[in-house]
Amino acid sequence: MTPQHTTPVLKDLNIDNITANTIAINSQGSDARMQYLMERLVTHMHDFARETRLSTKEWMAALNFLVQVGQISSDVRHEFILLSDILGLSLLVDAIDHPKPPGATEGSLLGPFHTHEAESITDGESMSSDPKGEPCIVIGSVKDAQGNPISGVKVDIWETDSTGHYDVQYNERDGPDGRCYMHSDDNGTFWFKAIVPVPYPIPHDGPVGQLLKLLNRHPWRPSHMHFMLEKEGWDHLITAVYLRGDPYETSDAVFGVKESLIVEFTPADQSTAKQYNVAVGTKVLRQDFILVSKEEADALKDKNALEAMASLGRRMKLVDHLPVPDLD
Ligand code: BEZ
Ligand code: FE
Repeated sequence: MTPQHTTPVLKDLNIDNITANTIAINSQGSDARMQYLMERLVTHMHDFARETRLSTKEWMAALNFLVQVGQISSDVRHEFILLSDILGLSLLVDAIDHPKPPGATEGSLLGPFHTHEAESITDGESMSSDPKGEPCIVIGSVKDAQGNPISGVKVDIWETDSTGHYDVQYNERDGPDGRCYMHSDDNGTFWFKAIVPVPYPIPHDGPVGQLLKLLNRHPWRPSHMHFMLEKEGWDHLITAVYLRGDPYETSDAVFGVKESLIVEFTPADQSTAKQYNVAVGTKVLRQDFILVSKEEADALKDKNALEAMASLGRRMKLVDHLPVPDLD
């Protein structure tokens, strides 16, 4: 069998030739995308070391930090997501992977507190059992860019309790709380009871918190409620709504806020209160979610990728909407 690649001679490696040789030895597999990811990762990591004149002591501190990030992680604590969030990577990856045309609901980061144990509720039920939270109702709709309703969309919703903690942050709990999922009806609508979101600090008692402290950054997120919308044929939307006027509106520790996602809860008037069977003055949020078809999202992603690749000065092609070097 003829070998596909020539194995490099791994000898006398130094500052100048280590990168090319590492890339070469990593290029023997058959997965073109994997090879491209590894090539760029090694290139940027090596450049980072050369550009910063990285010391052994600093690199060991970084590795030990990553060990701590792993050690504090568990089924219900994902410190690596937190790290990605505070480095701005989560938001960046979402923006690249789920581009939105004008008018579509923008995405926001997932965060580490989404779980798959939420229970299904129907219109008018409550997703929070917290008696201390300020009651509210959320009246949602799901539409396409032309304003047509989209029915049967699975809408996953999660928020903290009134003390700013997600259910999974409690060691002792009876089951899911502050989370639920629903499906949009034939008119593309859904509504549920919840509590008005409050600001809260991201978990900062671990290595990511120490890093924030070293960087003189606060750990707070502005008040928000998370939404995840999915239906076959539509681009998966992970987003959140943020309360206008929150003290952390412009300093979110994890960069999730976008002007188009800032909302206001308004007090229910007589007719709304009657229609939804809540007290007059109950806080109400009306929120439309505009989804992008999978086809349109893929086309936009392809266009953005090819534009970004043009500046790299090498021939690239797209496989499954992701760039790889074009070696043909
Ligand atoms: C959240 O909104 O749930 C969240 C996002 C990033 C880090 C921590 C929490
Ligand atoms: Fe959150």
